[in-house]
Amino acid sequence: MDIRVYKNEQEIGEAAGKIYVDYINANPSCVLGFATGATPVPTYTYMAEQCKAGNVSFKDVKTFNLDEYCDLPKEHKNSFYMFMYDNLFSKVDLKPENIDFLNGNADPEAESERYRKSIEDKGGIDIQLLGIGRNGHIAFNEPADEFSGEAYKIKLTESTIEANSIYFDDIPMPRYAMTMGIGSIMKARKIIFIATGAAKAQAVRDMIKGEVTPKCPASILQTHPDVTVFLDEAAASLLD
Ligand code: GLP
Repeated sequence: MDIRVYKNEQEIGEAAGKIYVDYINANPSCVLGFATGATPVPTYTYMAEQCKAGNVSFKDVKTFNLDEYCDLPKEHKNSFYMFMYDNLFSKVDLKPENIDFLNGNADPEAESERYRKSIEDKGGIDIQLLGIGRNGHIAFNEPADEFSGEAYKIKLTESTIEANSIYFDDIPMPRYAMTMGIGSIMKARKIIFIATGAAKAQAVRDMIKGEVTPKCPASILQTHPDVTVFLDEAAASLLD
């Protein structure tokens, strides 16, 4: 793993965002896997600014996303699709037909197969962006007895519900989600991982220094050949 520590999330947003801008300029029809959560927002902001300034175009880029809630309309303000729309999709020149998203309201097995095939048909994901949950989850792959494969429907843990329910002020947070599995994430050619804040420090330590175990799903990244880790000082505070 290539581990880089920055002063704050703004610096991470620029550094990680620049990797995307350079990659898209060199590979205009690349396939990108995006993530939701507060952590990647500065990275999306940087990409959007660069697109607005004419320094990069997403017109031939294809995108996938890690996960989506079940039992929530796509248009609800807290869907992950709307998060991406607000933070990136509406601010760059991505074509709507080039955006693919897991449908949390479809039959899980059929949707998993559709998504797997769609990623495969587009040549696989070139760069997958990842954050981490406080319990070591990536996408919505919660701690488990074994590593998952392709996309599947997951029951969210109390830790994740507690962390994410702050965004739900009108309805209760959904208890289930569709998520890309560990197997699908590990197929990405390159992974950009971002974590910020002291609340992530233990999970980051377990991911980098701990045993590779499905009890800390992010630890599988130790076995991926191309992972760049962006941390702020607080998230890196438990590393030697
Ligand atoms: C959710 C997402 C993850 C994300 C995590 C952390 O659970 N499914 O992909 O990494 O939240 O989010 P945040 O960046 O807001 O801490």
